[in-house]
Amino acid sequence: MSDVPDRAAFEEFYAGEAPWDIGKPQRPFVTVADRVTSPVLDAGCGTGDTSLFFAARDHRVTGIDFTKEAIRRARLKATEQKLDVQFLVKDALTLPEWDARFTTVIDSGLFHVFSDQDRRRYLQGLARVLETGGQLFLMCFSDEEPGTDGPRRVSRQELYDAFDQGWKVESIEPARVEVNPRFKEMRFSDGGPKAWFAIIRRQK
Ligand SMILES: C[S@@+](CC[C@H](N)C(=O)[O-])C[C@H]1O[C@@H](n2cnc3c(N)ncnc32)[C@H](O)[C@@H]1O
Repeated sequence: MSDVPDRAAFEEFYAGEAPWDIGKPQRPFVTVADRVTSPVLDAGCGTGDTSLFFAARDHRVTGIDFTKEAIRRARLKATEQKLDVQFLVKDALTLPEWDARFTTVIDSGLFHVFSDQDRRRYLQGLARVLETGGQLFLMCFSDEEPGTDGPRRVSRQELYDAFDQGWKVESIEPARVEVNPRFKEMRFSDGGPKAWFAIIRRQK
């Protein structure tokens, strides 16, 4: 994957299988499940497993992704699992123009796909849609992961810098991303790519 993948790159992934598509949420989101409150936005929801996990816990969940095929698969899973999730084809960079409001935002692998410029716009959107006191749970590749396979790496300091105004970074913990085991050609650290899992609260 290039450092900053565009929509076409994601469409290409979803023409087949995507390396991040593991059929379940990444582990840190399961670990914090009891802290999640509704309504929940899953930004860059992919094929919807994290959204569906929280819907199964009786949360009101909206999942957005700009790739149509990802949302088609997510809706299919929701039907199969008899779960009610609002899955929308939507660009996360349009969040600044959205009227919807949430008390939780899940970002499982979206923040790290953006260029510096798009990251600033995404942050503006998160600030708009997340209620004061609401929480953002964010997992991204870490700069401690060697090599160049996968998305761009993010340092702990970049996270602090990105969320320095109007946010309180409550914790940033090391984590590991679980990758679809079929993607053996991508080289990552033993135990999975190194990641950060951040809990960030929206302040006025
Ligand atoms: C690394 S995948 C993670 C998918 C899912 N959250 C997961 O954990 O399996 C990143 C996802 O973000 C989506 N995405 C990338 N840029 C986006 C944007 N600007 N707006 C909405 N979705 C975007 C991609 O289509 C892809 O599904």
